[in-house]
Amino acid sequence: MSRPGLFLAFTFRKGREALLGAGLALAGCETGQPGTPALTPAVLAAGANRGASSGDLARGREVFATDCTACHRMQPIGKFPTDVWRGIVADMSQRAHLTEPDRAKLLAYITAARQAMH
Ligand code: HEC
Repeated sequence: MSRPGLFLAFTFRKGREALLGAGLALAGCETGQPGTPALTPAVLAAGANRGASSGDLARGREVFATDCTACHRMQPIGKFPTDVWRGIVADMSQRAHLTEPDRAKLLAYITAARQAMH
């Protein structure tokens, strides 16, 4: 279910997103999509603490923004605690036919973004 073309189209429309796609971490001024928190230093640090690389988190964010919005708009990450997200991802990753690595990266991204919020 990987759709790099969609992601690229998205990155070209938003210059700052393109920088993120290139693996550069930007400072906290990055806003991005309201429902898709950017890979700020805080998010990257939260991910690294759990063994997720910036590439893992970038892929998780991509899955979240593309595969996970095929059927519905996304709920804000801040809406649910991490343990609730874990259950949602377990259920929804089957509906989205995610591979196991993508499921793990998606959960790593959501967990890191959620953790960086408070
Ligand atoms: C094949 C369609 C489909 C895809 C793809 C899909 N969802 Fe869903 N999602 C649904 C439906 C339908 C619901 C409504 C609740 C239900 O049926 O369980 C839902 C509900 C949700 C909710 C609301 C849960 C709640 O308790 O309010 C969240 C959050 C969610 N999905 C996240 C995701 C994520 C993350 C992904 C990507 C892994 C994803 N969805 C992919 C169909 C989909």
